Amino acid sequence: MLSIALSKGRILKDTLPLLATVGIEPIEDPHTSRKLIFETRRGDAKLIVIRASDVPTFVEHGAADIGVAGKDVLMEHGGDAVYEPLDLNIARCKLMVAGRPGCLDVGQRRLRVATKYVETTRRFFAAQGRQVELIKLYGSMELAPLVGLPDAIVDLVDTGNTLRANGLEPLEPVADISSRLIVNKTAMKMKHGEVQRLIDQLAKVTADA
Ligand code: ATP
Ligand code: PRP
Repeated sequence: MLSIALSKGRILKDTLPLLATVGIEPIEDPHTSRKLIFETRRGDAKLIVIRASDVPTFVEHGAADIGVAGKDVLMEHGGDAVYEPLDLNIARCKLMVAGRPGCLDVGQRRLRVATKYVETTRRFFAAQGRQVELIKLYGSMELAPLVGLPDAIVDLVDTGNTLRANGLEPLEPVADISSRLIVNKTAMKMKHGEVQRLIDQLAKVTADA
């Protein structure tokens, strides 16, 4: 039996059709059910549906063998706690520094940056030799510069509509983001056949897409 951890919300919408192409279909609809564990029509795989930012933790600790997580979440989780064998090429967007034009110019004082991705942001500015003051937020990042909280934000950008609607603009790219298949290190050894078969099947589907 393989357990597969999926992110609630945006990624789920793109992941379920992908898994369906390899026969893994939940018997109940995770979009409407309040359940957290879903049996599938394949019988040898079950789905766990959890918050996006919890997926790497569940897979790292073996609470799920496999997971689907955004690269943004994986970068923030850090380290090499899980294997990341496949880019699923779904939920594509960019992690960007954004703000009002000219906002990065703060002279001698430290730039204040609001983000949900504090570790990634710290590493990004440190690589430029720049120390920044980080403000951790959990959502609505685009609001923060408008009410004087930070000078800039680091957040996901897809169409750019959210930035534009709030008078902000993309300033510097931090990383290209898409969702990745991740695998628990022990499961990769102990369930190698099953795991590798799923990786190969999904690799074929994503390559054909
Ligand atoms: P959590 O519940 O853990 O706080 P969240 O509310 O940020 O997560 P979603 O907004 O559903 O969860 O985003 C999940 C993932 O979808 C992100 O980690 C990212 O990889 C991807 N994503 C988010 N926003 C976009 C977007 N605008 N375009 C494409 N992909 C996106
Ligand atoms: C994400 C992200 C941005 C927005 C970017 O938020 O945090 O706010 O999408 O997309 P855009 O460039 O196409 O406007 P989401 O819609 O997932 O809502 P959230 O803030 O509740 O996570």
